[in-house]
Amino acid sequence: MEKYETLTRVDFVQSLAEILAEATDLPMTEITIATPPESDMGHFAFPCFSLANSLKKAPPAIARELAEKIKRPSWLERVAANGPYLNFFLDRTAFANAVLMDVLELGTEYGNNSQGLGKHVVVEYSSPNIAKHFHVGHFGTTIIGKCLDNVYRFLGYDVTSINHLGDWGTQFGKLITAYLKWGSKEEITKTEIEGLVKLYVKFHEEADKDPSLNEEARSWVVKMQDGDKQGLEIWEWFVELSMNEFERLYERLGISFDLVRGESYYAKKQREVADMIAEKGLLTESEGAQIVDLEPHGMPPCLILRSDGGTLYPTRDIAAAIDRYNMFNFDKCLYVTGNEQALHFSQWIKVIELMGYPWATNIEHVTYGMLLFENGKLSTRRGEVIKVEDLLNEATSKTLAIINEKNPELRNKEHVAEQVGIGALKFSRLYNGRIKDTTFDWDRMLNFEGETGPYVQYTHARACSVLRKALSDESRMDFGQMGLALISGPTFDASLLTEDEPFEVMRILHDFPAKVQDAAEKNEPYIIARHIIALAQAYNSFYTKHVILVDDEPLRRARLVLTASVRQVIKTGLELLGISAPVVM
Ligand code: ARG
Repeated sequence: MEKYETLTRVDFVQSLAEILAEATDLPMTEITIATPPESDMGHFAFPCFSLANSLKKAPPAIARELAEKIKRPSWLERVAANGPYLNFFLDRTAFANAVLMDVLELGTEYGNNSQGLGKHVVVEYSSPNIAKHFHVGHFGTTIIGKCLDNVYRFLGYDVTSINHLGDWGTQFGKLITAYLKWGSKEEITKTEIEGLVKLYVKFHEEADKDPSLNEEARSWVVKMQDGDKQGLEIWEWFVELSMNEFERLYERLGISFDLVRGESYYAKKQREVADMIAEKGLLTESEGAQIVDLEPHGMPPCLILRSDGGTLYPTRDIAAAIDRYNMFNFDKCLYVTGNEQALHFSQWIKVIELMGYPWATNIEHVTYGMLLFENGKLSTRRGEVIKVEDLLNEATSKTLAIINEKNPELRNKEHVAEQVGIGALKFSRLYNGRIKDTTFDWDRMLNFEGETGPYVQYTHARACSVLRKALSDESRMDFGQMGLALISGPTFDASLLTEDEPFEVMRILHDFPAKVQDAAEKNEPYIIARHIIALAQAYNSFYTKHVILVDDEPLRRARLVLTASVRQVIKTGLELLGISAPVVM
């Protein structure tokens, strides 16, 4: 509990709102503080339009009066009316002191707050399908989901991450049929998913010639539903083999789940769910199937039970949602899946609502756009899906080639290449809003000077290297301790950081906590990704213009304090995105 109570000590936005509330007699909620586009228009601004009605005065007149009336705290250098706006100019020294102290004192906790305390968020993401490769279609959900998982935890929420495996459905009847006819244990053990995919293709080729195979496949599904031992044993083995590939990937991506539970678990509950829906008088029959009519809500019907007794995707989702609510009593339950499932989600969430569950409003479908390649395709030339494993390998080897060219002496090259290559892939997915389709372009995402993961990581490594040079050889301090020691020393003088470049860096540092909150509110990782790009750019402008390790001790100390603060916030930002922050590159 304790660690969450250290909110930013001088929250400038909050304090300005308080000052204005006092001067205007308005409730705090009515006051919005804006950030002007140019800093010569002030560092913060208050648009006076909202007061025009109640005060029966024109906004410019209100701005002029307020400029006179406001009591200026020491950290506020100047207040000026500018048309309908009231502009606030901060005292740069006071600002520098407060922001840098906050960052370094709070360290890894800078940016979090108590908003999530006592609240439970369920985040479901990744959810690949058994017996199929982990392909690019699941990259977005995995990367965006992991970031949201991190962000909510950071904000103090109790988070349960769930991997909802696609492990049930007609395809398993087909696979079992194919395996028993043409498969071999050795072959599948060796080739894992590859072998299963081949069997699946083979099944379809053969079923085209002999449609009775489809009957056989269906009968396996029904048998498995009734607990058939042979079928379930083979199925379990397929699940295990698939998980081997998935686990390898999760390990490389730095992901683990609190709960891995397949759709099979909910298939067993379909009767129960159908009865609950029927009890509410929502279930009707249509062409032999049981459905919930959603026409009054402008949607096609939601299928609940099939005529042949097979289970259905929406029914499994309804069962899972009820189960999750019973288990976690969630305040929010997020589902990160592609846009193309939007209708499916709207339908079953509507059914939950119609069933009268008030928590239906806590469910949110967090959608995202497609991942495209330069040629606009999602699959390889031969029409196969692109495997995420191949993407990771390619990213890593391309990065290794760049390192070999730029910094061949680097120790641990392979490891760094993996961190940077995979970081580049993740960053390029997270840098744009979720809904936008993302085009993969190797050259762009691996450009160390663009708006990329490697650029941010490189800036972080640069800050680390400056700090390392300043550390005496025998010192065993970590960078966090070092920053705190530097700012706490008697010669730290924030007035040495009042030029435009360091000031810009500090403005971005100051805004970081608000950006993290905003990212959580909108479930939008790009807000964090773009903010740390801005931070890296501002720090690099500072670095180009000012020498850090100067002889003058107070100046050198002040610039090191800034560097230590930047290092901290970039690291936190990268970690929230699920990207590693190597200390050398
Ligand atoms: N396994 C599904 C697919 O790959 C995604 C599952 C999404 N989650 C859910 N609760 N329906 O398409």
